[in-house]
Amino acid sequence: MGAEEEKRLAAAHAVALVEAGMTVGLGTGSTAAHAIRALGKRVREGLAVRGVPTSEASAVLARTESIPLVDLNEAERVHLAIDGADEVDRRKRCITGGGGALLREKIVASAADRLVLVVDSGKTVETLGAFPLPVEVIPFAREQVRREMLALGASVQMRAGPEGAFVTDEGNHILDCRFGMIGDASGLAARLDAFPGIVEHGLFIDMADDVIVGRGDTACFME
Ligand code: 5RP
Repeated sequence: MGAEEEKRLAAAHAVALVEAGMTVGLGTGSTAAHAIRALGKRVREGLAVRGVPTSEASAVLARTESIPLVDLNEAERVHLAIDGADEVDRRKRCITGGGGALLREKIVASAADRLVLVVDSGKTVETLGAFPLPVEVIPFAREQVRREMLALGASVQMRAGPEGAFVTDEGNHILDCRFGMIGDASGLAARLDAFPGIVEHGLFIDMADDVIVGRGDTACFME
């Protein structure tokens, strides 16, 4: 089985957790897109749920799939969020934001009663850090933050978009920062949280309740 099928299996496993009446956080990326399509199928079969999309792209897909959407500001509660990730370790910590939606993803994840990450088996790692850590910055502060990241020992690449800098749904830029293997992920997250100009970063620490891994022709919860 290829990675795409593993993503689909993991996403389907997570969507099976959705119950009638839930407000569901809809993640971003190719794995989350599998979940949105699987949820759309259930909605068209009669399941009454609402989705809170974490990106404009996921909102477009959810509308195509006939999933009723609600703005986070209007949702009193998010029962369950389903999202992908770029790397996950055994403590269910992850790097996310490869698709550039980390800010809204983290906000919806933190609002949710339960965050379920869905990944293919190639995303599970012993130590986070092979995947560059996306750091979302206010454009005004981009070069200042770049210098701070270099001083922390990272190599830094500004993410490019179709016309110059990649611009997030919230109008910010992304610096992809390679810190090497991140021995102290919690410590790094805390340091990044403290920098003025950084809006958010892709380290999710103590946020995921469950990780569902697609492996071969099956998917199961990470122990
Ligand atoms: C989007 C993300 C994605 O969840 C992450 O990049 C995983 O993407 P994919 O499922 O396509 O591998 O963080 O901002």
